[in-house]
Amino acid sequence: MIKLVGISGSLRNRSFNTSLLNAAAENLPEGVTLIKGTISGIPLYDGDLEASEGIPEAVTVLKRQMAEADGVILFTPEYNNSIPGVFKNAIDWISRPHPEISDVFKGRPFAIAGASPGNYGTLLSQNAWLSVLHTLGAEAWSGKRLMVGNAGKVFDADGRITDEAIAKRLGDFVAGFAEFVRAKG
Ligand SMILES: Cc1cc2nc3c(=O)[nH]c(=O)nc-3n(C[C@H](O)[C@H](O)[C@H](O)COP(=O)(O)O)c2cc1C
Repeated sequence: MIKLVGISGSLRNRSFNTSLLNAAAENLPEGVTLIKGTISGIPLYDGDLEASEGIPEAVTVLKRQMAEADGVILFTPEYNNSIPGVFKNAIDWISRPHPEISDVFKGRPFAIAGASPGNYGTLLSQNAWLSVLHTLGAEAWSGKRLMVGNAGKVFDADGRITDEAIAKRLGDFVAGFAEFVRAKG
């Protein structure tokens, strides 16, 4: 069984990226599970808070889910052509304390997908994640790309994918990543 964690980088109730994560979880290949991780409840990173109170509970939960998974999929929004602060903040916390980076990131498979109402579907945000993952020593999967543009026309009011071609591309993306994770052993 291949265990994946998917994380939406949006806190918004009707987030396109959370909808994409939910759709991925509902259409998994045989032999693959996907836990939905959340960045909700993670405070702004503050070195003084870390020193006085340690790693916050919401960070510890997500970090454990990531460490126990065989692979992680980041469902990233794009803000001002880059990574939204809330999502980067969560991963910054997950990278603390420094010696534990290897438990979560080092040599471990990560995939990046995203949705936005714009034409380019988070292309620049996804590219920005590559340097972060590189810094953390993670193995960013490059077998497929999934940039869902014009997201307002792809999901209905309940967040369900109405575009069959996108649903298929999402299924193929998750299956391709799971196969990569499986082959890596
Ligand atoms: C501060 C801010 C900056 C944004 N910048 C971009 C951008 O550079 N490119 C883009 O495609 N969409 C941009 N958007 C629109 C987001 O893609 C849109 O709000 C999207 O719904 C966010 O993802 P979510 O639905 O998962 O919350 C921006 C939105 C905000 C709030």
